[in-house]
Amino acid sequence: MSSLSVNHLLGIKQLSKSDIELILSTAKNFKEVLNRPIKKVPSLRDITVANLFFENSTRTRLSFELAQKRLSADVVNFSASNSSVKKGETLVDTVNNILAMKVDILVMRHASPGAAIFLSRKVNAKIINAGDGAHEHPTQALLDAFSIQEKLGTLKGKKVVIVGDILHSRVALSNIFCLQKLGAEVKVCGPQTLIPKYISALGVAVEPDLRKALEWCDVANMLRIQLERQDIKYFPSLREYTMMYGLNKELLDSLSKKIIVMHPGPINRGVEITSDVADSKQSIILEQVENGVAVRMAVMFLLAGRQN
Ligand code: CP
Repeated sequence: MSSLSVNHLLGIKQLSKSDIELILSTAKNFKEVLNRPIKKVPSLRDITVANLFFENSTRTRLSFELAQKRLSADVVNFSASNSSVKKGETLVDTVNNILAMKVDILVMRHASPGAAIFLSRKVNAKIINAGDGAHEHPTQALLDAFSIQEKLGTLKGKKVVIVGDILHSRVALSNIFCLQKLGAEVKVCGPQTLIPKYISALGVAVEPDLRKALEWCDVANMLRIQLERQDIKYFPSLREYTMMYGLNKELLDSLSKKIIVMHPGPINRGVEITSDVADSKQSIILEQVENGVAVRMAVMFLLAGRQN
């Protein structure tokens, strides 16, 4: 297969296993490009991309912009805080005005779940979801899968535990879809109040005990507590959360095998993960960030209709 079955990247849910494999194999080629002295290719020289960030971001925004520049695309950046959205303009009007300036691809982060799907039905452009509320973050899941595959050779039969605030996490949902499509087994671990009720319907088991979850897995993906999405208290205090679900070096070193530690960032050091774990040899956190550029190059290259 040399082209995607979708016109947009709205979520991992809409991708087939072949789509994901095509993105990951294309990303492998682009990673090779990124390790050359000249890190730029002319693949998207005639394409204009707008990055629309209605919500804060460091990694995803910069990673998309670098990926676009490495592919020689023309890039414009939009952030809601200093735009005419503040004057009452709707999302569709804002986007149609941007598209009138001959933009081909829109990368959008938005606080509302479903915002990217909504936009794909309303405007005439290719849409890439860079995170929509607590719904999906497809490029994060793809870069996570790429990073695991790079370390372990395959996802098939591997065991991944996602730890923490599963309820508010778009990273968790996209990872569950992506890892399962690639043949991995996924469990979640965290306070019962932060585990969604529908989790078993996704074929995901819950392991409430962090030590047991870590002994079971090959890879632990530690998530941040998303306080910005919590309007009530889901656990007594951050200190108690850390005691029950935080990963520290003593716990990591006491396991019967060496597991891989991941985190999508931003990290809250000392809450879900201690500094010595985040900076340890078992942590691939910065490799995830590095791989994000190659994965996003692959996504845009394939969506633009460029053949592999
Ligand atoms: N992982 C991630 O999405 O980070 P940012 O919020 O900084 O983009």
